[in-house]
Amino acid sequence: MNITNDKVTDYIYSLYRPLNEKLALLRAEGEKRHVPVILRDSETMLVSMIEMNRPAAILEIGTAIGYSAAVFSAACTRAGLDTKITTVEIDPLYAADAEKNLADLGNVRLIRGDACKVMNEWGSDRQVIFDMIFIDAAKSHYREFWDEAVKLTHPGSVIVCDNILMQARTADESYDERGRFTTNIKYMREFLNYIASYEGAVTSILPVGDGMSISVIR
Ligand SMILES: C[S@@+](CC[C@H](N)C(=O)[O-])C[C@H]1O[C@@H](n2cnc3c(N)ncnc32)[C@H](O)[C@@H]1O
Repeated sequence: MNITNDKVTDYIYSLYRPLNEKLALLRAEGEKRHVPVILRDSETMLVSMIEMNRPAAILEIGTAIGYSAAVFSAACTRAGLDTKITTVEIDPLYAADAEKNLADLGNVRLIRGDACKVMNEWGSDRQVIFDMIFIDAAKSHYREFWDEAVKLTHPGSVIVCDNILMQARTADESYDERGRFTTNIKYMREFLNYIASYEGAVTSILPVGDGMSISVIR
């Protein structure tokens, strides 16, 4: 289900232009295989953020087949940026696909493993810092991802979380018709309350794509 009016979404999608032909093909492959790649309007917003913030280092949590990491790569190259993009994937099958899809992109590094553990190891010595962190992985673990991610930021870094409205279920459980997402809804609401009142960041909750939060670290 769209979280906004279908006609509005269709209209916005009609204005979407892929950054290049390879990305168009990769999106088509992802959608055909039902891989949950970022939605078109989420993608364009992230690309705009890259142009605005000009990050030197981006971290993505949740690579899947590498579509969004490839978008970041193309967006940074187009913006004339020498950005280092790191993406972490826990699922070995997705990681194998991503490795192939990202092989030609010199500015992307794929790490296999649990992003919580990976970030925790980096965070312990605070040697690794990112200007932009995109959280797009297991919804019930967003709080854990956030708490590790924050340690890898500086004032002005941005943390973006995807799918926070979970097809509107976060806003109203009547959209969870079979009651299958009760736990996810609970965790996501707790997480959004947590970041909305988090002293160290300024957060916006936006009805873009499947819902996105943008938090600027203070
Ligand atoms: C929504 S998909 C990512 C889509 C991708 N960002 C894109 O738009 O092309 C979420 C991915 O997060 C991965 N994931 C889930 N928990 C994870 C964790 N703890 N560490 C790393 N990856 C994780 C899943 O295996 C899945 O591939």
